[in-house]
Formats: sequence, structure tokens, C-alpha cells
Amino acid sequence: MKVFHLSAECYPVAKVGGLADVVGALPKYQNMAGLQAAVVMPYYNRKFVQENVFDIVFQGATLLGTRRLYFEILKEQTDKLGFELYLVKIPGLLDREEIYSYPDETEQFIAFQLAFLDWISYSQQSPDIIHCHDHHSGLVPFLLQHSKLYTRLANITTIFTIHNGQYHGAFGWDKLSYLPEIDLTKTGLLDWAGGINPLATAVKCCWRYTAVSPTYLRELSISSNGLEYLFYIERAKGSGIINGIDTEVWNPEKDPMITSKFSIKQITKGKQANKEALCTRFSLAPELPLISFIGRLVVEKGADLLAAAMEQSINEHPGKVNFLILGAGDKETEIELLQLKAYYPEQCNVVIGYDEALAHLIYAGSDFLLMPSRVEPCGLNQLYALRYGTMPLVRSTGGLKDTVIDFGDEGGYGIRYDNTSVEDICEAVNRALVLFDNTKQLQALRKIMMTLDFSWDRSAAEYNDLYKSLNPII
Ligand code: ADP
Ligand code: GLC
Repeated sequence: MKVFHLSAECYPVAKVGGLADVVGALPKYQNMAGLQAAVVMPYYNRKFVQENVFDIVFQGATLLGTRRLYFEILKEQTDKLGFELYLVKIPGLLDREEIYSYPDETEQFIAFQLAFLDWISYSQQSPDIIHCHDHHSGLVPFLLQHSKLYTRLANITTIFTIHNGQYHGAFGWDKLSYLPEIDLTKTGLLDWAGGINPLATAVKCCWRYTAVSPTYLRELSISSNGLEYLFYIERAKGSGIINGIDTEVWNPEKDPMITSKFSIKQITKGKQANKEALCTRFSLAPELPLISFIGRLVVEKGADLLAAAMEQSINEHPGKVNFLILGAGDKETEIELLQLKAYYPEQCNVVIGYDEALAHLIYAGSDFLLMPSRVEPCGLNQLYALRYGTMPLVRSTGGLKDTVIDFGDEGGYGIRYDNTSVEDICEAVNRALVLFDNTKQLQALRKIMMTLDFSWDRSAAEYNDLYKSLNPII
């Protein structure tokens, strides 16, 4: 079965968040299970692209309104990521450094989708599945079925995975001319709330959609930035498949990015060595419990509450707790956090920016990982933390609810709380500090965390079952 994954991100080529981790791992595990899975993404002028060798496998031109765009499809020569990697390059549009936030983002992602469709159409390819991720590839299921240009491809099965239902990629009807000739009786499929909405279009037109956790699937019809009713009426097409983690990249026994590699047998010693390295680097005391946060500093992640919660905890437990933050995002939150660091230099440190290697060391060297998310479709940080014996403190939502059981409940190994509030975060911190003093219980829980299996094998099998249910003869 031949599968093309279409995505704006893929680790290690270009990453902003978990979408990259998923698209960089799922196809590899699908190939190990006997599928032929490939990734197609925009070309970005970044380190991975500069350091690897690519062949030009196709050259063509596509029309974006009245603009003729010449494009190339590049293929990484050695399939070193465990799958075929194709990049769509369009000079001036898809050859830049950043992934998002250009003013012509609409043009950027429409051109990406058109070039992909033109390529597979003209090169006579017939994949069995086109698997689209998030709104950046959300128009593909519609175009396959309702554009005359791609009639030959109309029967290809399309799957759409929602990693983040808050972002829709919506734009005005004045840009309809960017699309190739379509069946005008079907324009209703493009519409939501008076605009063209690629996320809504994908949900309406794909064969099946998935959300990245069962709880998030349910939450989409309660809160999805205006698409609640759509998710409610289309619910029969949806399923929830929890993400896995790439256990080759995230492996405390082999991780080259941490100071001291460790297995479950040396868990106490191993974590302590990594914690000491972290604390030396960030001027914190290694004997105190270390609570960390890694992620985008945005309201979705509850990052706006971090400074107030940390200040309250530091005042409630003077000299008894350390905090470390790694992230970037909303300027106001960044400033608040930096002010807190200046005020309490011995109990908290803050790194503003993106640092993959430091993230690995923080998962390995922290005692607890804080995730006060308002919205968390799946969340990968808690899964990485568990793999490195670090207890997640999570708000009970989306994938956090599906993957973290409170240690007070049977079989539990984490701390869960209900509200995105400073009070609930501080209460979770209080529980973590009591647990930290109970060394035996904490050690036993760390062992449980490290034996949990969140590898992709199980989740990849669920995607494969979904593909097969739609393509029974393959
Ligand atoms: P989201 O995709 O919503 O940002 P996830 O939990 O799914 O959240 O994935 C976040 C991914 O991005 C993880 O791999 C995490 O380690 C990484 N990450 C987020 N922010 C940073 C940062 N500032 N530096 C390094 N890695 C980061
Ligand atoms: C999104 C979500 C995150 C999820 C990731 C990968 O960015 O915010 O919760 O883990 O996608 O699916």
C-alpha cells in the first residue's frame, strides 16, 4: 500500500512542534510494518536541506491565479529518515527559512498543494492513500474530487489528521481564483462562515478524519474555534488515534543529547547526573526538586499562568523548589517570565528560544514536567517525560487525559488536575513536593513511567487498520 503524507513540518527537516515529530516518525513505523509510506512537504532553506543530497525528480509549472509558478520536486537521495522524503520547491514562495508567519501564507500552502497534485497527476502516480495533516494540506481532498484537472485521481482514498483544530487557514472568496477550474456546484464544500476554510473543507471532503487522541475528538465538537457544529454533524467519519513516540530518537539509553545515558536499572543515578548538568548550567541547586516546562509560550498551553503560579509556589516554599522554563511565543509572557527569573535567580531560570538538545536534557534531568494546557490535542512532551522517568503534572484535557493517570488512582504514575488556574497548578506543585520527599514511592513510580509503552507500533497499526478498512482489496 503506497501512502503519501502531506505536511508543513517533519522532524528533523523542519520543526515547530509535535506535528513534525509525528510526521517524522509515523511513516517510518508504517514502512517497518510493510507499507510504502513517503512524506511530501514544502522546501525550507534550513540545516537539514543544506546538509543532505537531493535529486530533482520532477520539474513543472502550476498556475496560482494568473501567476505561473515553476516548481521542482526534490527527493532525498538515501531515504535516511526511514521513508522517501520529497520537497516541493518554488522559488520565492517555497524556498524560505521559516515555516510559518509569512504574510503570503495562503499562497504558500495553496501552491504547495497544487504542485503536489500536478506532480502526481503528470507523473502518472497512483498512491493508494493520501494522508493530509492539518489545514496546510486541507484542500487536497476537495481538489481531487471536484477539479477537472485531477479527474484521474478522484478515487484515491484521503485521510485527514487534525493535530490542531484551533487553526483553520481560512481566507476570503476573493482568492477562489487561486484554485484550478472546479465544479462550481460544489463551492459550498469550501465554505465556512462566509470564507474558504481549508480545515472545514478537509473534514467535509476526506474519506475519514482522525484526531490525535480520543478525548480531543470529542472536544472538537465542543470547542474548535467555530467548527463545533461541523464536527458534530460529521462525527461518523471521525476517529481518535493517540500519537506514539519515536523510541529511537527518544531513548534515554542511547540519547546523544543528554549528559548521562541511563536505563531503568540506573534510573536514580542517571537522572541525578543529568540534573546536576542542568543545574550547573542554569545556576540551580541540584538537591531541590526541579519542575520544568518546555513548549510554545501561548495561551493554548496555559503559558500565561506560568509566571504567577511559579511566583506563588516559590513564596509558599522558599528555598524548597526550582523551576526551569524553555520556550518562545507571546512576547508578554516571555517578558513576565524573564522578570521572574531576575527576581528569583536562585529558584528559577528561563530560556527563551528553541533548543532541541536542551529539551532532551530537560526531559532527562527534571523531576517533574508541568503542562497546564488549555487545549492539548495529544501532547508529546508528557510522553517524552515519562520515557525519561520524569513525572508529568498535567491539566486534564485532550491527549493529556488519555495518557496520564494520576498516581493517586490505581495504576497511576502522574499528577492530573482539572482547571487551568494558578490555584490548581500550585496544588499540583504541592503534591509533587510531598512526593519528592517520599524517595521510595517516587523511585517506584519512576520505574513504572519508564516501562510504559507509548511507541508508535500500536498507533501505526491503528492507522493501518483504518487504511485497510477503506481499501479492503490491497
Ligand atoms: P505542540 O505541537 O502543540 O507544540 P507537542 O507536545 O505535541 O506540542 O510537541 C511539542 C514538541 O516540540 C516536543 O517535541 C517538544 O520537545 C518540542 N518543543 C517545543 N518547544 C520547544 C523549545 N522551545 N525548544 C525545544 N523543543 C521544543
Ligand atoms: C499539535 C498539538 C499537540 C499534538 C501535536 C502532534 O501541535 O497541539 O497536542 O501533540 O500536534 O499531533
